[in-house]
Amino acid sequence: MPDEKFYVTTPIYYVNDKPHIGHAYTTILADVLSRYHRLKGVPTYFLTGTDEHGQKVQQAAEKSGIEPLEQADRTVVRFRELWTKLEITNDDFIRTTEERHKTIVQQALQDLYDRGEIYKDKYDGWYCVGCERYFTEKDLVEGNCPEPGCGRPVERIEETNYFFRMSKYQDWLIQYIHDNPGFIQPDFRRNETLGFLKKKLNDLCVSRPKSRLSWGIELPFDENFVTYVWFDALVNYISAVGYLTDENVFEKWWPASCHLIGKDILTTHTVYWPTMLHAMGLPQPQCVFAHGWWLVGRDKMSKSVGNVVNPMDMADRFGVDPFRYFLMAEMSLGQDASFTEEAFVRRYNADLANDLGNMLSRVVKLIVSHCDAKIPEYTELGAEEENLRNAALAAAEQAMDNVESMRIDLGLAALAGVVREANRYLEKRQPWTLAKEGKIEELGTVLYFAAETLRIISGMIYPVMPSKMSELRAALGLSEKEPGFADLTEWGKLQPGTPVQKVKGLFPRISSRENKKTPVPGKQNEGKEPPAEGVTYAEYADFKRLELRTARILQAEKVEGADKLLRLDIEVGDEKRQIVAGIAQHYDPEGLQGKTIVIVANLKPVKIRGLKSNGMLLAASIGKTLRLVTIDAEDAPSGAEVS
Ligand code: ME8
Ligand code: MG
Repeated sequence: MPDEKFYVTTPIYYVNDKPHIGHAYTTILADVLSRYHRLKGVPTYFLTGTDEHGQKVQQAAEKSGIEPLEQADRTVVRFRELWTKLEITNDDFIRTTEERHKTIVQQALQDLYDRGEIYKDKYDGWYCVGCERYFTEKDLVEGNCPEPGCGRPVERIEETNYFFRMSKYQDWLIQYIHDNPGFIQPDFRRNETLGFLKKKLNDLCVSRPKSRLSWGIELPFDENFVTYVWFDALVNYISAVGYLTDENVFEKWWPASCHLIGKDILTTHTVYWPTMLHAMGLPQPQCVFAHGWWLVGRDKMSKSVGNVVNPMDMADRFGVDPFRYFLMAEMSLGQDASFTEEAFVRRYNADLANDLGNMLSRVVKLIVSHCDAKIPEYTELGAEEENLRNAALAAAEQAMDNVESMRIDLGLAALAGVVREANRYLEKRQPWTLAKEGKIEELGTVLYFAAETLRIISGMIYPVMPSKMSELRAALGLSEKEPGFADLTEWGKLQPGTPVQKVKGLFPRISSRENKKTPVPGKQNEGKEPPAEGVTYAEYADFKRLELRTARILQAEKVEGADKLLRLDIEVGDEKRQIVAGIAQHYDPEGLQGKTIVIVANLKPVKIRGLKSNGMLLAASIGKTLRLVTIDAEDAPSGAEVS
């Protein structure tokens, strides 16, 4: 993404129901990216809002016996309240029922109609009420709605409607997607859209007769119709930033840097929207990024199952910042993720209570007791100090790279890694012992290094946990509320002599039955012997950082010129990958096809003999041979989590 500006959007959410964790997720993600860019000094515009027309909202209103606008007015409050609660820093909130939006939609429609891009035609086909979509006979799957996740019965209808000449842009769109690989992200979503475009595109029906659906924006050229809800909703991304009203504002922000969406609305954003923009003569957004799905445990969230996670409750119970942190740390962008309270408590206690919170309270307590409550001077540097400094600076760089390549989870993991390293440093250097022995200079150095590491880490985590990191920074005597990003890649910015302040439990431990047994490492070891040499325990959190998944081998072949290597095409859930593995002397390529194996799915991709290897398979060394780890189940699905 170029740095001269950053314009990010969320989907505008339907107001048929109150917000759930999925809505909270996309909006928090947009907020984190916005805060990140603002701290970097990049002019940033962050847009969110609500999608208020169409059948879903009309039906919800009917159910409650109120007018659709009343339904929208009531529900929009829930969204606004939630964004305030979650400390969302959106610059604008657009409602599609606002005049400023409706007039732009009508002008765009009129213009397209005048130029023959929209035409009237008789329509004879099938309609899915739930999806508000028209389908032809051959679109249907077993006679039902073909939309993924729908499958409901369709109605036969015959009516006159207006159509947008979407089909004539099919070849252009395919070419555009090929020419701009960053346009649809992640890559496998781009392939999904290209797959969709292999079938011939139909023109898009952009009207609904008022006799069937009256809740919408009236077509400017025919009062008997309203606009199809998507043709209305997508336009919010330009109507909010001055399209046809303020050229300067529009020039400044459009094209958007990033439309964040969930995978459910990929087609509307990567087929309808680009062709609409193209017909309007406007440039394309730089990126449409589709993230995965939050599942609850292994299940889809659904009202009828009763497992819908209410973000307001989560924030009330566990705190806004920890909730934001969990969502960002737990989901690899693009993949699905699973929400459970156990996972939340585990990660909270590991990363925040035990590691970060505990480190802060130790360091501040020692500075208060032994350094006159002021950041100490540092003097001699040993190898341990250099290591810690390098690790902290490297993690800050890594975190930035990861955020910019939309790997926020990995960025946070790098920072959590440095916190653990800093805690190990404290265990090794034993400042409490140095204090007892009166080695004040050495003690000062150790505490400075720990505090300076905290300064860098807290600055980098700030976009994710703004309130908590402000508290942390205040404890270290950092007076500006927000960190300047340029300071985070430099060592030694903390000024000796600055007063520190004791903090009371930044992240108090959450106890739950299964977590009570886990000791708090820092507290327990304070003033005591470190664990015996040669025994290194992995924290559960260390293990959780590795993403182990089942994968199906689709095909295997020898790598030319390398007698140990096989190249494997594998399938991990709905994703296809290539990995290169050193198993050629132990397996015949043909025999591997169809096997379900276990891979480390989030290992950084590497090139082996010029071939990209995205993941690592697990195998056991048995004597001189290698045997693959496989799954003890027939027809094991690929993509399943191994834990
Ligand atoms: O589709 N996991 O609105 P919508 C992650 N109005 N994200 C989820 C999610 C889940 N389980 N469930 C929902 C609409 N989301 C249209 C959009 S845009 C011009 C119009 C998030 O209320 C995700 O961002 O159904 C998804 O794309 C969006 O909510 C859908 O919200
Ligand atoms: Mg939806």
